[in-house]
Amino acid sequence: MATKFSVLVVLILLLSISSSLIDSIVFDFPAVFNFGDSNSDSGCLVASGIESLDPPHGQSFFGYPFGRYSDGRLIVDFLLDAMDMPFLNAYLDSIGSPSFRTGCNFAAAGSTILPATATSVSPFSFGIQVSQFLRFKARVLQLLGKVKKIDKNLPAEDYFGKGLYMFDIGQNDLAGAFYSKSLDQIIASIPFVLVEFENGIKTLYDQGGRNFWIHNTGPLGCLPQNVARFGTDPSKLDELGCVSGHNQAARLFNLQLHALCTKLRAQYTDANITYVDINMIKTGLIANYSRYGFEQPVMACCGYGGAPLNYDSRIACGQTKVINGTSITAKACDDSTEYVNWDGIHYTEAANQFVASQILTGRYSDPPFADKMPFLLKLKF
Ligand SMILES: *[C@@H]1O[C@H](CO)[C@@H](O)[C@H](O)[C@H]1NC(C)=O
Ligand SMILES: *[C@@H]1O[C@H](CO)[C@@H](O)[C@H](O)[C@H]1NC(C)=O
Ligand SMILES: *[C@@H]1O[C@H](CO)[C@@H](O)[C@H](O)[C@H]1NC(C)=O
Repeated sequence: MATKFSVLVVLILLLSISSSLIDSIVFDFPAVFNFGDSNSDSGCLVASGIESLDPPHGQSFFGYPFGRYSDGRLIVDFLLDAMDMPFLNAYLDSIGSPSFRTGCNFAAAGSTILPATATSVSPFSFGIQVSQFLRFKARVLQLLGKVKKIDKNLPAEDYFGKGLYMFDIGQNDLAGAFYSKSLDQIIASIPFVLVEFENGIKTLYDQGGRNFWIHNTGPLGCLPQNVARFGTDPSKLDELGCVSGHNQAARLFNLQLHALCTKLRAQYTDANITYVDINMIKTGLIANYSRYGFEQPVMACCGYGGAPLNYDSRIACGQTKVINGTSITAKACDDSTEYVNWDGIHYTEAANQFVASQILTGRYSDPPFADKMPFLLKLKF
């Protein structure tokens, strides 16, 4: 009896200690401003006219290509959903008077943290995205209160201070560099990439941003695009079949990004800076895929060429091309929910939903947050 009682007391004590240690983030933001690459682009690159997406992109949720590089929703869509907010409209999308009341998405596929070069897919590097935000904010403040009709589509003035600033960028700085640089050179360049990132965060802080949510970068060596190009020599692959050098660069980038977050937290004591270890979630998914209901950890669902990668750099998902006199099409697999990878570079909606659900447990964040938020009940697993 006495033992049981003391066990109970110890348990209660432990519980109360752990819940006071874990910062309970209240997901109560009036707006979200997102910056990044294709991992969170909800339509910027496509709206800019630089690239277009064909079906079967979007087929699992929207029914047609919806500016996203996936068969459906992205991690950012699931996070917004969990916050009970509508999906973010793309800053560059001007069709149909999109509402920016609850935020704006500046992420564009192919974007890097470092300024774009002549060979970049996207000219909308992080610095440009931050400049776009400055223009967005200045224009909103200029327009607010002038015309009733447009006010309802604009964030209120205090949303800029109370809003959440989210980031998922850096993957293209690393992936792109492997085409022309050695691993050592890439590793040596990471501090310069992060100085550029820090400058952007500083600008947003100086503009009144106080809540920052920073995703690290995923195991890009596991993407079929990189395995096909850089993994032809089996000695370059790790036990998961991923390119070791790419994943090593990602890990070193993340270590330094994490250190930067810690530094910024000490510097900006009136701000919340959350680092989210998306790499650990994605690596865990690829390593233990069958436990999470997937059948293919690396092979692309939508592509050409069949196993083991179903990826051909000449034909993007949804495209048809004549090669050697034969017309070939990069088509989708029968069931994208069995695949982690969608098109050789991006994740399937099923994988994105898994990653978002793991983020929302709060266990992969620094500081961690308690998983007692009511919206968790809404995620179907
Ligand atoms: C930081 O987050 C906590 C909990 O969500 C919140 O109460 C606080 O207002 C936030 N700080 C700022 C500066 O927004
Ligand atoms: C996969 O699962 C095993 C068993 O739970 C665990 O030890 C391992 O760390 C997991 N792998 C990854 C990369 O998370
Ligand atoms: C086209 O022909 C080349 C050379 O014969 C061959 O290596 C390649 O695999 C062919 N491509 C396709 C798509 O069949």
